[in-house]
Amino acid sequence: MIGATGPAGRAVAVQFAALGEQVVVGSRSQERADEAVAELRERWPGRGLDLVAGLNAAACEADLVVLATPWEGVPATLAELAPALRGRLVVSMANAMTRWGRYAVPVVPPTGSVTAAVALALPESRVAGAFHNLPAGAWADLEHPLDADVLVVAERRADAREVVAIVDRLPGLRGVDAGNLANALAVEAITATLVGISQRYKGHAFVRIGGIERG
Ligand SMILES: NC(=O)c1ccc[n+]([C@@H]2O[C@H](COP(=O)([O-])OP(=O)(O)OC[C@H]3O[C@@H](n4cnc5c(N)ncnc54)[C@H](OP(=O)(O)O)[C@@H]3O)[C@@H](O)[C@H]2O)c1
Repeated sequence: MIGATGPAGRAVAVQFAALGEQVVVGSRSQERADEAVAELRERWPGRGLDLVAGLNAAACEADLVVLATPWEGVPATLAELAPALRGRLVVSMANAMTRWGRYAVPVVPPTGSVTAAVALALPESRVAGAFHNLPAGAWADLEHPLDADVLVVAERRADAREVVAIVDRLPGLRGVDAGNLANALAVEAITATLVGISQRYKGHAFVRIGGIERG
């Protein structure tokens, strides 16, 4: 996890660790990574979560790298880490959003989407987008799995299929291949709508796709 000390990264870290995977909780600061790991272990004692605190560079050594920084931080973060991410499967969950008064509203990055920006910054990595629409606070609760779909976008269908299969291993989630990176804008932008729905209904809105069956 790159940027794992925020709510989104913590949710991903704890969910993958609960599967028995080792997760590197990455940060720009070793101290913040240490704090995040200590807090996650304190929240979920006795689960034997294999969480390793480290700098973002250490997280780049994993088989699967998830990017969970704010979108503004993506270019500088990836400029530094691109060499270490060569050849790796990198999943971006970053959404471009801002506040308009009390409302969360989507922002269209100059590249069309954050996932496309990640792909441009990492031409030698396998880039996908996923997890954009999950409400991190609710998703981080290991005792109450969501019943959500995760829209997966990737330039190559083989990468999308691989990420869908990974998502399917996570409790309460179903991966759905949502197409190539041209669709990332829609996937990311709907997150602001979900944030507004969550506020109005005092809940934790997520996405579920009807009308399809998958084996
Ligand atoms: N929160 C959610 O419910 C949710 C759900 C789905 C997707 N997302 C997306 O996931 C991403 C992270 O969300 P979040 O709520 O966890 O965000 P966040 O708490 O604001 O940021 C996550 C972490 O990113 C690092 N960071 C902050 N600014 C940075 C910068 N300029 N450059 C590099 N790293 C920086 C920080 O870690 P260090 O200081 O420790 O390095 C921070 O703890 C966002 O793009 C968001 O749109 C969020």
